[in-house]
Amino acid sequence: MSYMSGFGNEFATEALANTLPQGQNSPQKPAHGLYVEQITGSPFTAPRASNQRTWTYRIHPSVKHKPYEAYKHPTLLGTPFGDIDTSPNQMRWDPPAYPSKPVDFVDALTTVAGNGDSFAWTGLAVHVYAATASMDRRFFYCADGELLIVPQEGNLTLRTELGRIDLKPGEISVIPRGIKFSVLLPEGKARGYVCENYGQPLTLPDLGPIGANGLANPRDFLYPTADFEDESGPHEVIAKFGGKVWCGEYDHSPLCVVGWHGNYAPYKYDLNNFNTINTVSYDHPDPSIYTVLTSPSHPAGTANLDFVIFPPRWMVAEHSFRPPWFHRNIMCEFMGLIHGVYDGKEGEAGGTFAPGGYSIHNCMSGHGPDAAVVEKAMNVDLKPQRLESTMAFMFESRYIFRPTQQALKSKALQKDYYIAWQGIKKMFSR
Ligand SMILES: [Fe+2]
Repeated sequence: MSYMSGFGNEFATEALANTLPQGQNSPQKPAHGLYVEQITGSPFTAPRASNQRTWTYRIHPSVKHKPYEAYKHPTLLGTPFGDIDTSPNQMRWDPPAYPSKPVDFVDALTTVAGNGDSFAWTGLAVHVYAATASMDRRFFYCADGELLIVPQEGNLTLRTELGRIDLKPGEISVIPRGIKFSVLLPEGKARGYVCENYGQPLTLPDLGPIGANGLANPRDFLYPTADFEDESGPHEVIAKFGGKVWCGEYDHSPLCVVGWHGNYAPYKYDLNNFNTINTVSYDHPDPSIYTVLTSPSHPAGTANLDFVIFPPRWMVAEHSFRPPWFHRNIMCEFMGLIHGVYDGKEGEAGGTFAPGGYSIHNCMSGHGPDAAVVEKAMNVDLKPQRLESTMAFMFESRYIFRPTQQALKSKALQKDYYIAWQGIKKMFSR
């Protein structure tokens, strides 16, 4: 398995020698009897820095399929969200349980929250999955948004049109809009989170005064090399389009791209490569310091989606309250935990923040460390401390996360989450 490194570079890869034409994109008769198809992920006239397209050289053009029909997916939902009123309450869920029968990645997708409007390229949806079967002659693509996949348990093999990505917990992958893929479970089961980003494609954040280096370095993003299969017979393609789920039959595998060149392609990134920057004097910087990828919106700085992590790191702040402080925020936060313990949530009152679980703290709703953490943090003897073996993350959005009815009715919802803060003592004295 080989990958090409760099973020959004112009890559060129072929699984058969002499597949890619030299000097032009669409020759009259492409090599090896292939068809040429361009996949464009930005408007044609997007500025050069944000213009994304890839030329594919494939055995069959994508247009060759029977008509798509509605697919009865019980748990994968789209906009508009808000079939139930969204309260300002803090909300937290236990990890999703694995089904007792075989359920593959696409059928396992369960929408827990969303916002914005996929028809207007704003907002996002958050899905979780607990899958127990590989996809067999079945493929998925999402026209409504790009998919940010965050595995929490179990490896995934993503067989995409543009090549294969092996993914393990601690790594993330982004599948651009429209790219077809199939998910294999090498260990038989897998669980995790998927953010469906309706907005501008995720990109690296600007670094400002940090300078040229730091946070996620471009060379650590890995793109697959061309890898095709030449399979005939019925193949099922599940499509997320217009907020609904559809199914189309193909007489061939859509993974028939023998070579491609361009900058619109899936990629993966190992979160352990994140160059974490933090205080070496006092206090606690805003969590934006941990931004891996951002989907910008207007005006600048109001992200449609920020993907933020809380990685292992040294904590050395002097005479400071080191855990995440109490706060209220115009931005809305969906938080998940890949492994370990999140440093603001160590208590047991009101339930626990378990790996695979998730929480929502919406616009201007108060949140922060639980009672057990507060007491400890105020009294601990402050020494340099290594926060080990932990990886939490946040999908942060300018738009209010609207939990779905199925999430609010789920047994996984922790009804007593608020109790986590009820033990915070009054210490005021004049
Ligand atoms: Fe927060």
